[in-house]
Amino acid sequence: MKYAACFLVTTALFVCLLPLGATTQQQSPFQYQIEKTLIAKRGAVVSAHPLASQAGLSILQKGGNAIDAAIATQLALAVVYPNAGNIGGGGFMVAQLKNGKQLALDYREKAPAKAHRDMYIEADGTANTDKSQQGHLSSGVPGTVAGLFAAHQYGKLPFKLLIAPAIALAEKGFVITAAEARGLNNLKSDLKKYNTQTPAFIKDGEWKAGDTLVQTDLANTLKRIRDNGQAGFYAGPTADLIVAEMQRGGGLISKEDLLAYTAQYREPHRFQYKEYSVVGMPMPSSGGVLLHQMLKMIEDRSIASMGFHSPDAVQLMTEVMRRAYADRAAYMGDADFYKVPVKQITDDSYLTQRMKSFVAGKPTPSNELQPGAVAGYESEETTHLSVIDKNGNAVAVTTTLNNSYGSRTVVGGAGFLLNDEMDDFSIKPGVPNMFGAVGGEANAIQPGKRMLSSMAPTLVLKKGKPYLIVGTPGGTTIPTQIFQTLVNILEFGMSAQDAVYKPKFHHQWLPDELVLEKGFPDNTKTALQKMGYKFGKERGGIGRTELILVRPDGRFEAIADKRGDDSAAGY
Ligand code: DON
Repeated sequence: MKYAACFLVTTALFVCLLPLGATTQQQSPFQYQIEKTLIAKRGAVVSAHPLASQAGLSILQKGGNAIDAAIATQLALAVVYPNAGNIGGGGFMVAQLKNGKQLALDYREKAPAKAHRDMYIEADGTANTDKSQQGHLSSGVPGTVAGLFAAHQYGKLPFKLLIAPAIALAEKGFVITAAEARGLNNLKSDLKKYNTQTPAFIKDGEWKAGDTLVQTDLANTLKRIRDNGQAGFYAGPTADLIVAEMQRGGGLISKEDLLAYTAQYREPHRFQYKEYSVVGMPMPSSGGVLLHQMLKMIEDRSIASMGFHSPDAVQLMTEVMRRAYADRAAYMGDADFYKVPVKQITDDSYLTQRMKSFVAGKPTPSNELQPGAVAGYESEETTHLSVIDKNGNAVAVTTTLNNSYGSRTVVGGAGFLLNDEMDDFSIKPGVPNMFGAVGGEANAIQPGKRMLSSMAPTLVLKKGKPYLIVGTPGGTTIPTQIFQTLVNILEFGMSAQDAVYKPKFHHQWLPDELVLEKGFPDNTKTALQKMGYKFGKERGGIGRTELILVRPDGRFEAIADKRGDDSAAGY
């Protein structure tokens, strides 16, 4: 399925950028199409932006493997999808290589050395979420560039080839869509407020669809990374620019923090669901464990017979979500700093016990599971990409700046946005973060600690081979969405496209409310209301899931979420 998203440009610009269009369809970045679904034989990439998917595809076609393509796609996203694609943030990669080796790479941001537990607490004891959510003080030490280089040891092509599409897109620019123009226009006042120098994202007048965004400073930063490797970011001029920006804006990241940053390979969080093996991200992501808990709590309950979106199925899944998220708040955090009882809370008998209080047709009030504060939600932005190649290397990456456009602070002279990931810590016990999530000791701020995440890049294997490669943005809704996408396919027998596109719902224990996505069936909502469920504000869209399903004949079915400009590419 193709959605035209072509832009009229002057012939001069079109011609000047044509060499960039190293794609199957001979498109230039100035004239691209959004492909929502495709079937491919030799390789597929699906990401939040068509130009990024094309960058990944071009690498596969040059002989790169799925890891190479995932690196190139992330770098391109850092240019064409500044909401969430980044070099100033962090992320996770879960992969299975063709030889069966499984990887879980953690390049989540870390709290700077000068960070401390009460850094967002004002003199009167209140927690200042403005400071944890915007501006210089909200940024953790970025991990993305270290992550890309750590991943690259499993790639085949030279890094300079992988970064080339991103450099070209930054240097020569790309045409923005209506959604991107809207995003940049909405951002303008924040950009003015939180920047010490004028970034490329600020334009005199309004951005509109078809405008070209050129990012010269970012291109130069990417060239330093190309020429000097990881040190092109964590040392030398880029590090100097980051530290100077911190000093101008009262942030904490120091040269030492940057030099000390390392990405970390971890043991994936693995579990079995019926005949499928699920491979997910361990701490400091809550994603793998939450998915484990939620799937195991429904495994023996014949959910397929209840029917998709039936009140019974939605109620069961809601209660399962509530229980898992109560555990998230109490127990989960960076396991390098806090002893997370992963084994205990994923143990079958523990989960059976956890469901003892479940009553079909009746809500379990959250305050009877665990006490805590209640809060609303805000907007959200992260991005996921899924890649597979002809040899069966499968890669799922979720990466983020946290909020859309992160801290809103662009490093002066270096052209990239910094994250506001510090807000993912529990800045004060019981004070909700921007996703309404609460936490305590397990996720308290400590120097060098990684903040708890919900990002959940996930692989599902059938007989040991990749079957589903999936992930999504959406803050705390990430694990519940992946849960639903998997249940839709594995239990309700839904097509890959329907599994992604059908309306989703979300419950996270606190606030004690069920959030529905637009289009959710009214009769089910009414039935749940009668059972006693309270509803949060309906959401226009929940997440942006990127899914690749390997069909029985070995072909790849790639689904880009309809909820954004997301696009698939393959050959
Ligand atoms: O790591 C996390 O859980 C959040 N920082 C993710 C943010 C996010 O997904 C925003 N996206 N829509």
